[in-house]
Amino acid sequence: MISEKVKKLRPYVAGIQPIGDGWIKLNTNENPYPPSPTVANAIKNFDFARLRLYPDGDSNVLREAISQEFGLGAAACCFVGNGSDEVLSIALQTFFSGKTNILTPDISYGFYSVWAQMYDIGLTQIPLNQDFNIDVSQYRNGNGVIIANPNAPTSIALSKLEVEEIVKNNPKGVIIVDEAYVDFGTETAIHLTRKYDNLLVVRTFSKSYSCAGLRAGFAVGNSQLISAMITVKNSFNSYPLDMLAQVGVKSALQDEKYFRENLERIIATRDKTVKALKELGMNVLNSSTNFLFVEFENAKEVYEKLFESKILVRYWDKPRINKFLRVTIGAKEETEAFIQCVKRL
Ligand SMILES: Cc1ncc(COP(=O)(O)O)c(C=O)c1O
Repeated sequence: MISEKVKKLRPYVAGIQPIGDGWIKLNTNENPYPPSPTVANAIKNFDFARLRLYPDGDSNVLREAISQEFGLGAAACCFVGNGSDEVLSIALQTFFSGKTNILTPDISYGFYSVWAQMYDIGLTQIPLNQDFNIDVSQYRNGNGVIIANPNAPTSIALSKLEVEEIVKNNPKGVIIVDEAYVDFGTETAIHLTRKYDNLLVVRTFSKSYSCAGLRAGFAVGNSQLISAMITVKNSFNSYPLDMLAQVGVKSALQDEKYFRENLERIIATRDKTVKALKELGMNVLNSSTNFLFVEFENAKEVYEKLFESKILVRYWDKPRINKFLRVTIGAKEETEAFIQCVKRL
């Protein structure tokens, strides 16, 4: 009854969304602060009678707004989807389905290998070097590349030049750069999509724009790449973004001041947290994101003890990273509670 492929499929396991109060949630890299008030206003002012209709399946108004905000020149260079997970999934299906030698780090966002199973993609996993950096020189002549920049869960970023080097050295296929966390500490490669027609940059509204609950992400690239992704999307779901999501995230783009202040608060808390952990003698990787990758001799035990104190973080029982916990930067008091708990342990 069930297909052989699905029988073998091992899905991505997302961090827990706990039910009930009292949890300090540092496990899914959400933003600790609400979205800009412009988002709530846009949704409140929406004419709810319109909800009887289907939304614009191509999200044209939102794509136009993204195009303006990022100087893309045309909305045809932008694709939007139901969270960047959907955008990435469609991109992998569109460009890599049935192909081999798609280059990716051995430690990166866990969903990439799940989509590889779904779409019969042969990933070539390139080990991160000893200190968990991507060794750019090893990314050559792939039939495509998928990387996160900054990488997750390691939190370490490549420079714009390093990303460009990967693009230059892999002319045969599409290079997908997942920039879910880029706003927290490194330069975007969006402008390089004008120079390289095989580069696709994927972004999300879930992290720096505080809109994880609305589910929206986008991709930027050459209009031919985008058009192919739209064909795949229209073969799967005509209306991936509902009306409220389209209106809400569009207004999040328009409050630049709030966006900057939100980022600054998180970066300040991150820097303070790193300092406090280092003062305790701990190894914390160099973060360009809204989370930290922190080494513990007994990471699993610390994870469990934090859980007992109702502090949720992320732990993977996997080679190379089983001595680390990934900890989202929360609001000041939340992150302080984490540090106090670590001190006690
Ligand atoms: C590296 C990376 N890419 C993509 C995503 C997906 O984000 P969303 O689907 O909320 O846009 C995440 C979520 O945590 C992530 O860590």
